[in-house]
Amino acid sequence: LKVTWSQEDAEKGGYQHFMMKEINEQPKAIRETLQRRIGKDGKIKLDGISLTREDLEKFDKISIVACGTAYHAGLVGKYAIEKMARMPVEVDVASEFRYRDPFVDEKTLFIAISQSGETLDTLMSLREAKSKGARVLSVVNVVGSSVARESDDVFYTWAGPEIAVASTKAYTTQLVCMYLLALYMGDLRGTITEDYYKQVLKELKATPKKVQRILDKAEDIEELAKNLYNRDQIFFIGRGIDSAVAYECSLKLKEVSYINSFAIAAGELKHGTIALMEPETIVIALATQDFLMEKMYSNIEEIRARRAHVIAVTKEGSQISKIKSLEVIRIPKCMDEVSPILTIVPMQLFAYYVARERGENIDKPRNLAKSVTVE
Ligand code: AGP
Repeated sequence: LKVTWSQEDAEKGGYQHFMMKEINEQPKAIRETLQRRIGKDGKIKLDGISLTREDLEKFDKISIVACGTAYHAGLVGKYAIEKMARMPVEVDVASEFRYRDPFVDEKTLFIAISQSGETLDTLMSLREAKSKGARVLSVVNVVGSSVARESDDVFYTWAGPEIAVASTKAYTTQLVCMYLLALYMGDLRGTITEDYYKQVLKELKATPKKVQRILDKAEDIEELAKNLYNRDQIFFIGRGIDSAVAYECSLKLKEVSYINSFAIAAGELKHGTIALMEPETIVIALATQDFLMEKMYSNIEEIRARRAHVIAVTKEGSQISKIKSLEVIRIPKCMDEVSPILTIVPMQLFAYYVARERGENIDKPRNLAKSVTVE
């Protein structure tokens, strides 16, 4: 018997790359993260994490610190916590936080987000916050990692091992953790109704199946990638929570495909970036927020007026999805709040397929390491 596959191939479970395997593991990973934190009574349980109503009353703000993809999860976390728990949230890139003498004290709840739990800047920021008296809660994937060990409380993401340098399932499970925390805090503080709490939890529980529906139509995204893989630059725009996701879409694309890409809040376009819009420019517009749909529609039309090519990512049945002359990627209907868990999935697939078309080393992009333990 001749074995023609390596140990690594076996671990890829039939996929060509870890990145694709991990993208496909998201329904399972999200389900696992939810199951660990939802009790039989249907309420969120933060076993092992002490976050009482009295604790929350002591905090006057929340400071979220992370790097890269984890930072982008923090940006979504800010929207969720501010909306549901009505507490002010700051989000910082760890390498900036460390060196700016931040306003942090015993009235701060400091949240570090890290897949590996070993990112040096995040760890050093955590130490800085701790030394100033902040309470430290971390959202971490790797059990027993440095960030986890040094935190007062740990909220594990339970995504399972993530091997590809490009983070995928760690991000979506980080999002789930941020929503659970936001809902839990909102419930304790009485800033949300019981109905809203139940509705968001129901929506979260529905996400694994909806992510699977997106994955089942991966060929559509593969087709799009085949049309666009040789472009020099691709922009991402969005409003509200979509702008936070746009940053992650852009990072995913550039790190694996090396296409020059950047993301911008759509309302900022007219303050400079619209000058770059010309025929042949590719803009991916995230338009999932029902209450911002009109505004996004105007942004899309402004760009199309410059004859740039727009591809919209929007919910099935939305006003934008019905525009005949517009290329559209549809995600399943959902509450505005939880859309990032869905929106990112076709864009992870897009980054993957574009990189594959370009023949890049998808699991190990140049100049990057899975865990950045140096400055
Ligand atoms: C994203 O795809 C990258 N792997 C990178 O941005 C990563 O999220 C960042 O280095 C932070 O890593 P951590 O979550 O392990 O702290």
